[in-house]
Amino acid sequence: MKILVVGSGGREHALIRKLMQSPKCDKIYCAPGNGGIEADGAECFSVAATDIDGMVALAKKLEVELVVVAPDDPLVLGMVDALQAEGFKTFGPKKAAAIIEGSKVFSKNLMKKYGIPTAAYEVFDNSKDAIAYVKKQNTYPAVIKADGLALGKGVILAQTEKEAVDAIKEMIDGRKFGDSSATVVVEEYLTGPEVSVLAFTDGKTVVPMISSMDHKRAYDNDEGLNTGGMGTVSPNPYYTREISEECMEKIFLPTINAMNAEGRTFEGCLYFGLMLTSKGPKVIEYNCRFGDPETQVVLPMLEGDLVDIMLAIYDHRLADMDIKWSFGSCTCVVMASGGYPLSYPKGLEITGLDEKGQLEGAEIFHAGTKLVNGKLVTNGGRVLGVTAKGNTLNEAINNAYAAVKKISFENAHYRRDIGQKALKATFDPFDFEYKQDLEDYLEENGIYIRQ
Ligand code: AMP
Ligand code: GLY
Repeated sequence: MKILVVGSGGREHALIRKLMQSPKCDKIYCAPGNGGIEADGAECFSVAATDIDGMVALAKKLEVELVVVAPDDPLVLGMVDALQAEGFKTFGPKKAAAIIEGSKVFSKNLMKKYGIPTAAYEVFDNSKDAIAYVKKQNTYPAVIKADGLALGKGVILAQTEKEAVDAIKEMIDGRKFGDSSATVVVEEYLTGPEVSVLAFTDGKTVVPMISSMDHKRAYDNDEGLNTGGMGTVSPNPYYTREISEECMEKIFLPTINAMNAEGRTFEGCLYFGLMLTSKGPKVIEYNCRFGDPETQVVLPMLEGDLVDIMLAIYDHRLADMDIKWSFGSCTCVVMASGGYPLSYPKGLEITGLDEKGQLEGAEIFHAGTKLVNGKLVTNGGRVLGVTAKGNTLNEAINNAYAAVKKISFENAHYRRDIGQKALKATFDPFDFEYKQDLEDYLEENGIYIRQ
């Protein structure tokens, strides 16, 4: 089978590597792709991920049998509808369902209507009313979200009244994100560990994948600006079996049913961004696609054939699939360009990788790389997702960082603490990273060591 993957990041590289493992996959193409994807054996074509007509024409030219649409914008624009109209099998939701990510107002109203737990909120398309509301609430941080897609930058956690007022004015009056910010959602600030759960669904059955934890801020200890994601671990140790059962009952199934009831059946990968609050798990956001860099730690843990799963979803027979996950843990450390998420240089040579852009002992998912005369150079903010597995979280973290140390490019920036917050939630007596954790564990379990 010939497969085309739409997109160009680390997520797409992780998808391609998993799809390539399937005996059903004879040839794989990517548009627009990147240097690492190309070096790994997928032929790349320079058609923009949002170019619907161009992508349909490419799929016809290549005579592919399955098109996997990975990024949010082509999904929200209706690329899957256009491909299906031409007879292609696809993976990804249609436009009517992708709105669950495309409009925060839609998703918040959906959750309210169907009783799915989320932060309390109000919607405004007039800055005066929004400002009056924030002032009346007078609780900070205030959470202000652009309604539409904003390259992951549409959420402002305003620490003061001034920050909140400025954000509202910039978004509604200044159209900071164009029409995406003409309407804003102002919502209650929630606290608790965050969990990402990606789920396969064909609209009838929902199969959550292994859980994960993203690290969104640029610097260690969750400082600095929000980014697309600086690293991930899976599974997320805060997400216990008990919590997963509660999420299935109160969030996952109700969401799938709500979308069906609205005539917007969701088929593909639905991403639940959750916060485990003291009042139970709540939805922070839905995405209509695989997360990036969550996919980089989820798919390496998948035991089984991703092509089979995607075809089963297309044919609405996901219930027949037995989807299994590896034992152990996986960590992805993102190596970014110095300056990211603001401005950064491009074209810097990357050393330490083999001719396929890989490294023994790790899986390297390329995000912003380019092949120039056979050499790999940087070509984006997030450059590489350096990923490794281990029997324990601690081992996976150590393996990923051991690989990071072997790779270099000028001014490479990465967080040193990917997985540390997750480690604090683990109480494996054989795997203590912190002496304090071990002492707490011993005390809580009534274990005393004779001095
Ligand atoms: P997003 O860009 O939608 O992924 O949101 C970015 C981050 O903002 C999330 O990962 C959360 O850490 C934070 N966030 C979003 N909504 C809330 C909320 N209601 N309360 C607290 N934090 C939030
Ligand atoms: N890692 C967050 C996202 O994919 O939106």
